[in-house]
Amino acid sequence: MHKTIVKVGIVGLGRLGRQHAENLAFRIPFCELAAVCSIDSEAVEQVKKEWNVPYAYTDYDEMLANKELDAIFIATPSGFHCEQIEKALHAGFHVFSEKPLGLYLEEAIRVQKAVNRNKEKVFMLGFMRRYDHSYAYAKKKIEEGKIGEPVLIRCYGLDPAKAMDGFMKFAKKNYSGGLFLDMAVHDLDLARWFLNAEARQVWAIGGNYAYTEFEELNDAETGAALVKFENNKMGIFVASRNCAHGYHIETEIIGTKGSLRIGTVPEKNRVTVFDESGAVNECSDGFLERFEQAYLSEAEEFISCILENRQPEVTVEDGVLSTCLGYACKEAFETGELKTVQY
Ligand code: NAI
Repeated sequence: MHKTIVKVGIVGLGRLGRQHAENLAFRIPFCELAAVCSIDSEAVEQVKKEWNVPYAYTDYDEMLANKELDAIFIATPSGFHCEQIEKALHAGFHVFSEKPLGLYLEEAIRVQKAVNRNKEKVFMLGFMRRYDHSYAYAKKKIEEGKIGEPVLIRCYGLDPAKAMDGFMKFAKKNYSGGLFLDMAVHDLDLARWFLNAEARQVWAIGGNYAYTEFEELNDAETGAALVKFENNKMGIFVASRNCAHGYHIETEIIGTKGSLRIGTVPEKNRVTVFDESGAVNECSDGFLERFEQAYLSEAEEFISCILENRQPEVTVEDGVLSTCLGYACKEAFETGELKTVQY
């Protein structure tokens, strides 16, 4: 690419889209946030005015007609990702999309074909944990052989109970895919990455204990999945929207010669408060706080890939395979049956 500045248009300015937009506007070298788009006209106007963004749209197709842009960043609800990715690629843009790639296998495969037809365009999926310094460090240790052959992964993905109102608004407006495809999908991707193996069979269970609203959504407030991977490797996944102490993302990888743990105590920072409650390490309170660095690093990588004419490590195949696995978890939970993962 001969340009020195990548002009980006973002669609979706909600809980995460606003953070991405702020990063693109102010924190990434050689990047300009040139357009914002959302069906929420107030959010669009506010961001345009406050941050001096040249173009603002309430219609996605209109944004795609703006040929001054180089890339599209998608942060809309999950049910829109596939269609919006395909349209952006078709219109000639580089594309970043939030996870999950899709909510159904057929649409994910359609996108995979579209990405493969447009190989000269950069495509990246928002599995930002791979860009978190601690997760990247753990991967490096595994590659160096520090724990031998990784054979089992145990993941906790627990959202804070105090974020329940925000989650309910998000989930009632648009179908999220449910606990496994929406939330555990990050862990499912990490498991494939760390174990270097694809999933074969899944059993999942779950229920609603403190928040019966989940019945209306046909979803689980708290759930667990047991996954058998290739080469007899194992995965244990716990996901919940009802974590009393905060945002708890913990991963353990057990190998033949040792193990690694990431985020065992989900500390906010390195400060311990000593007072009448004892010695207290406060907890991280949400995804924006815990993964602040990772959201920035993944966007930097996307822009660098465009400027350097290369593809990122996270591929459309990672999106398809994690959607297949997340969907199998959802089916196992809904039917109570052991499921073979369909690819
Ligand atoms: P949200 O509901 O807070 O925001 C969605 C935004 O998209 C709103 O601005 C809404 O007005 C806009 N929108 C909805 N339909 C649209 C359309 N057809 N065209 C244009 N704009 C539209 O959702 P949130 O939490 O920001 O999530 C967005 C995506 O990001 C989801 O796919 C979610 O799975 C993902 N996400 C990823 C996280 C991560 O850790 N990587 C964390 C949170 C969300």
